[in-house]
Amino acid sequence: MRRGWFIILMMDRAAERAAPSFGGRTVVAFESRMAGETARLIERYGGRALVAPALSEAPLAENAAALRFAEKLIADGFDLVIFLTGVGTRELLRVIAARYGPEVIRAALGRTLTVARGPKPAAALREFGVSAGLTVAEPNTWREILRALDGAVAIAGKRVAIQEYGMANPELTAALEAREAEVTTVPVYRWTLPADRGPVREAIRVIAAGGAAAVLFTSSQQVTNVLQIAEAAGAGADLRRGLGGLVVASIGPICSARLRGQGIGIAVEPEHPKLGHLVRAAAGAVAARGAAASGAGAVSGSVADAADYPAAAIKPVAVTNPVTATNPVTATNPVAAANPVTAEQLAANPLRATPFLRACRREPVPYTPIWLMRQAGRYMPEYRRVRARYPFIEMCRRPEVAAEVTVTAVERLGVDAAIIFADILLPLLPMGVGLKYESGDGPLIERPVRTLRDLAQIPEFAAGEELGFVGAAIGLVARALGGRTPIIGFAGAPFTLASYLIEGGGSRQYQATKTMMYTAPELWDGLMGRLARITADYLRMQIAAGADAVQIFDSWVGSLGPDDYRRYVLPYTRQVIAAVRGAVPVIHFGTVTGNLLELMREAGGDVIGLDWRVDPGAAWARLGYDVAIQGNLDPVALFAEVGEIRRRTREILDSVGGRPGHIFNLGHGILPETPVDHVIALVDAVHELSRR
Ligand code: CP3
Repeated sequence: MRRGWFIILMMDRAAERAAPSFGGRTVVAFESRMAGETARLIERYGGRALVAPALSEAPLAENAAALRFAEKLIADGFDLVIFLTGVGTRELLRVIAARYGPEVIRAALGRTLTVARGPKPAAALREFGVSAGLTVAEPNTWREILRALDGAVAIAGKRVAIQEYGMANPELTAALEAREAEVTTVPVYRWTLPADRGPVREAIRVIAAGGAAAVLFTSSQQVTNVLQIAEAAGAGADLRRGLGGLVVASIGPICSARLRGQGIGIAVEPEHPKLGHLVRAAAGAVAARGAAASGAGAVSGSVADAADYPAAAIKPVAVTNPVTATNPVTATNPVAAANPVTAEQLAANPLRATPFLRACRREPVPYTPIWLMRQAGRYMPEYRRVRARYPFIEMCRRPEVAAEVTVTAVERLGVDAAIIFADILLPLLPMGVGLKYESGDGPLIERPVRTLRDLAQIPEFAAGEELGFVGAAIGLVARALGGRTPIIGFAGAPFTLASYLIEGGGSRQYQATKTMMYTAPELWDGLMGRLARITADYLRMQIAAGADAVQIFDSWVGSLGPDDYRRYVLPYTRQVIAAVRGAVPVIHFGTVTGNLLELMREAGGDVIGLDWRVDPGAAWARLGYDVAIQGNLDPVALFAEVGEIRRRTREILDSVGGRPGHIFNLGHGILPETPVDHVIALVDAVHELSRR
């Protein structure tokens, strides 16, 4: 899959030299002001242009904000004026010069620092007879503006005016305010939907019907307007589906962020945020895709060079005859039952020699293996596309869907292990406590367990019967990955599961959980014992179905002090781990566990998962080198530039010093807004920087 990209990128380069062509196919664009030029460019690259202006800019009729701005400017009330767009700058200067006279305005601007976001506002200022004090570099986003300002002036205490275009730029305002500037915004235009929406509706129809080869978005507002028009016409879902099958080209990072935020994948973002570059890059991608489809060497047919690949490239996993796992362990006392997976079976595992399983056993590896908690999740457009079709629990219950998202993440990222797509709370389903995943709010338990009577109502069940779909999904993944990539099964540790059951959902203080611990030890022990048995049974079912390793998530155990951990938690986690030990490697993970690491080790695990709050080398020294470690990049570090991600990766690798038994991971799950290309950059960085 990844190799496919490189081939396509190379094909892109070749195509550039040979002037790429859309090959007579239809190309949709939504540009307004430069509609004519856009159409001509598309045609020059051999496309049939369908340009449907998706927004109109209306000057604010009663521009009181502009006049207030002028008064304050003339009275030397601003230290700094930021001009964001050429057209907006021209309009603003026209309005205020008409009122106060151009000389007065010119003189006032001469006394302040004028900042142009790029060449267009700089040109508009020049036409007016003012040269910009500072012109911001490409790609001219608010980040470059800040960088330019940070390099030029001390912003704290400065009075800053921002010429706004169409809509507010809250990130820039917030960043300036965070630097203690006093910010005034000056709206000049507002963007509205076009008076005639017919052309946009027609373009949506063409996209939905698969009649276009590419679509060009040249501003973020177009994304919003096109979706709004589509939704109003009842064609939102059709549009999204259509966009999944063609080359989506985005002018620059702001527009791309808006698209991604809407779950729309981007195949092309040109190096320079210019119309000409965009059209050329889109033509290259369409040409490359055509070549790939006709078997010219690309592996996947993907044209992605930025953050996504089209839905067509997601490999559906064969659904024929899913493995229906049978759980060989009795439900009544699985902890004590004989382990169904023998050491011989383990020794015979053909995946034994993979870097991930070698690292679990602390054997030397050619490079440090990496996988990521929540690697199949909402940050990934492929996931969101599948998720749009099913509620979350439904995704988990359908083995072919769970397998598909598991495999897609592995192939997309190039990681060294697959974690089965499921959730630690699935065992709560057969418990009958009313588990719901409300969108946005996380999981919710309608009938929390708070009394002995609540506990007594939880039925006995066998994981193989009630949660067999997870085993079936593991079987499908094993088949789809063809014995190349090890599969990680997982479960929540008793404490973390108990916290959800008792609190009724996520929690900050774990007040109800700890109160039960401290005031109702019998109930606590009853509940924890029950959860330990259920979890052991569930994990063994996964191992029997083909999991090559398991991870135990004690995500929230860091809320406890060491004494409480030892008394109320350790015995139960130990039971779970003891029940699967020897069958496959066990990874034991928690967060905020800097004070608990030695105790977690005591509870068990071949690998201890670290969050990012500890130095990995120092933590390993504390744990002892007879256990492996996993971690521990801060998930938020993935929002930094790739250079910074690589620097932090190197720091972690240096800290563990190449000692056998390190598995790279984040310190906790990937966050939903994480840029996919940064995740891929991390995987590449780990492989490259750790190669021995
Ligand atoms: O890591 C993977 O890629 C495998 C899948 C996986 C999920 N949840 C999928 C999921 C794993 C390993 C988990 C573990 C999990 N689930 C934990 C332990 C890890 C951790 O984050 O500490 C916990 C505490 C849960 C419980 C849970 N499930 C929460 C708190 C939430 C809501 C928060 C959120 O991120 O949405 C879920 C839902 C959930 N589990 C989603 C996914 C992909 C999002 C569902 C959606 O699409 O809306």
